[in-house]
Amino acid sequence: MGMSQSYGAADRGESLATLDRALELGITFWDTSDVYGDGHNEELVGESLRGRRDAVQLATKFSLSRDGEGRMRIDGSPENVRARCEASLRRLGVDTIDLYYQHRVDPTVPVEDTVGAMAELVQAGKVRYLGLSEASAESVRRAAAVHPITALQSEWSLWTRDLETSGVAAAAREHGIGLVPFSPLGRGFLTGAITSPDDFADDDFRKDHPRFRGEAFAANLRLVDAVRSMAEDKGVTAGQLALAWVMAQGADVVPIPGTKRVAYLEENAAAGDVELTADDLARLEQIAPPGVAEGGRYPNAGYSYGDSPAPGSDR
Ligand SMILES: NC(=O)c1ccc[n+]([C@@H]2O[C@H](COP(=O)([O-])OP(=O)(O)OC[C@H]3O[C@@H](n4cnc5c(N)ncnc54)[C@H](OP(=O)(O)O)[C@@H]3O)[C@@H](O)[C@H]2O)c1
Repeated sequence: MGMSQSYGAADRGESLATLDRALELGITFWDTSDVYGDGHNEELVGESLRGRRDAVQLATKFSLSRDGEGRMRIDGSPENVRARCEASLRRLGVDTIDLYYQHRVDPTVPVEDTVGAMAELVQAGKVRYLGLSEASAESVRRAAAVHPITALQSEWSLWTRDLETSGVAAAAREHGIGLVPFSPLGRGFLTGAITSPDDFADDDFRKDHPRFRGEAFAANLRLVDAVRSMAEDKGVTAGQLALAWVMAQGADVVPIPGTKRVAYLEENAAAGDVELTADDLARLEQIAPPGVAEGGRYPNAGYSYGDSPAPGSDR
């Protein structure tokens, strides 16, 4: 995502070099969406994968788009599912998407209708597996009753533990659905690299996030200091400790940290070798219990943990 939007400018050459290096390091579960850079990210990933498509498990998403004024729209209608999938296949330059997510549940379309249309894509061979992102527990259960759901992608990290406290992770596990934590580095904050709201470029969307503003920022910095101090004791970086914690949440948890730089990628990949003892996990639980972060995850409430109307409801 960061190669195409959200976290300031990206250098195209460095982005492509980062993707090359990911393959060399054996990082083969790649995540994109049609909304990242309004198609830019899928084209970039497609370019990188030309001639070596089978090297990765390729995940993309649909249902979000920006209107003319840059506001986010959600469309889970069956006709949009079909149209968006064709457009993603074309931009990625592939015949099949390995994992196709509904990026956000549409509050106006029964999730059964959306997942029903996604299931037809599986039958047509355009998609292999289905996923949801930021869905509520109820949406997860209703979707899984229509077609097997393979993955649930939602924010999960040391400072965002709503997935545990909301019962969504438990609902996913009831159905054998794998968990894919996004923003596992707390959008970069948990690495300790961001020390002031002034660190953000003008086009960086974290400027508008409640957690990165004013007093909340200062309070959250104390959490990062504690993570960094523990990381020093263990001889790892704060980011590696944050990633190791997410990976320690279960064998069914596969985080997808994002970066547009080779050096960060290499540091993050090495987190796979960090082992946490029961004492380490207890210390992290004290440092970062559920609800520890000051401020909401998004500027706009209601953007996540999506529910939809009952089947058969009018749109
Ligand atoms: N389903 C959804 O709604 C949703 C929402 C958000 C994200 N995602 C997916 O999840 C992926 C990861 O999430 P994310 O990118 O939001 O958050 P993240 O992985 O928590 O953090 C990414 C940020 O951390 C910085 N960073 C990465 N490694 C670092 C290191 N070792 N040291 C210092 N800084 C480091 C990156 O900097 P640079 O940019 O400078 O490399 C970037 O600003 C995205 O790429 C996207 O595919 C999905």
